[in-house]
Amino acid sequence: MENFIAYNPVTLHFGKNILSTLGTTLKEYGNRVLFVYGKGSVKKSGLYDRIIADLKSQGIEVCEYSGIKSNPVIEDVDAAAVVGRENNVDVILAVGGGSVIDSSKIISATIPVEHSGWNFFTGTKAFKAVPIVAVLTLAATGTEMNPFAVVSNHALGQKSAFGSPLTFPKHSFLDPALTLTVPRDYTAYGIADLIAHCFEAWFGIGDTTLADRFVISIVKEAMKYGPMLLVDLQNYEFREKIMFAATMALNGMTMYGRSTGDWGVHSAGHILSLLYDVPHGASLTIVYPAWMRHFKDRIADRIAQLGSELFDEPLTADQSIVRIETFFKSLGCPVRLADLNIAGDLRKPIFESMVHNKVNGGNVRMLEEDYSELIGLFL
Ligand code: NZQ
Ligand code: ZN
Repeated sequence: MENFIAYNPVTLHFGKNILSTLGTTLKEYGNRVLFVYGKGSVKKSGLYDRIIADLKSQGIEVCEYSGIKSNPVIEDVDAAAVVGRENNVDVILAVGGGSVIDSSKIISATIPVEHSGWNFFTGTKAFKAVPIVAVLTLAATGTEMNPFAVVSNHALGQKSAFGSPLTFPKHSFLDPALTLTVPRDYTAYGIADLIAHCFEAWFGIGDTTLADRFVISIVKEAMKYGPMLLVDLQNYEFREKIMFAATMALNGMTMYGRSTGDWGVHSAGHILSLLYDVPHGASLTIVYPAWMRHFKDRIADRIAQLGSELFDEPLTADQSIVRIETFFKSLGCPVRLADLNIAGDLRKPIFESMVHNKVNGGNVRMLEEDYSELIGLFL
């Protein structure tokens, strides 16, 4: 086992009607709130009106920033930070999926400084951050219980991650009922994303049998209830199971006893999101089978063990890859870029962006010749 430090300061509020204490929780941080949300799902669902009514009844002053895009961009982060700074906000209320909560993490560190939030992605440390309270509306990324944020900078051709002990949300509110309106495709991408987070831990460095068991349990939960949810999208109980699994998949637990996860598939997947706006979870179901095929000889035992444990029968690495790929397809997720009707002469731009973004894994290291083969396997 590798040495590790466990730190997770997020207060998680989970369950039906859990939002009843949102206003009083925000009040603990002050009276001026920056309400950040996305393209409109919160208005459509009525959640926006409910929250505004709650905040008004608490006498809280609200300013807002809306329009955060899926695969969020630095321009929105910087513009929202200006709104927060001008209104001297005490706390950020982030309501949405990973894109809104990730953006809010960088907004929180950018409000107290004068530079662009992008500086944090290029080595500037965060010394101060406005507290964040999150309301999660999409089960997928685990951002609600971790410090990470992933943002794109199209001017520089990069999609990068940042995290600091200051960028954990103080509180995250998870009412599975708020995910009942997530459409089928994003529900499937969320299930795939949480599974991929477990795989990234599995392929990391560290012989940690207990954390391996966490990985297998979380993935099995998703493999059982994910397909059931996809044929019954209004089922609260299945939404609850997937939401819980997604949070546990990336809150640190699966990493205990490892010095690093791998994250090579995420790193490559980000390129597809950056260049073609591929939804995050879909980018992972496209890259994972290709990545396992390409690196099979280096990690054959680990792939075979993963498949055998997940499917409860002895499988070779090859059989495991086919079973995992078939499972992703059964969710309705793409396993080739062409499945999303993204085609043409894509090798060169993808290769160049992989070089530019220094795509790599923490354990299974990649060279430029690996990029070419990998691309050939997922186009
Ligand atoms: O913008 P709105 O209108 O809110 O619509 C969103 C968006 O179109 C919609 N949506 C969200 N909640 C909904 C809903 N639609 C109906 N009902 C609801 N209740 O869903 C769409 C996707 O939302 P988004 O937030 O983009 O999805 P997700 O949660 O998958 O977040 C993806 C982003 O998170 C990053 C990804 O790279 C990507 O940028 N990640 C963050 C991680 C982290 N912080 O730890 C780890 C992940 O590996 C990932 O990299
Ligand atoms: Zn992910």
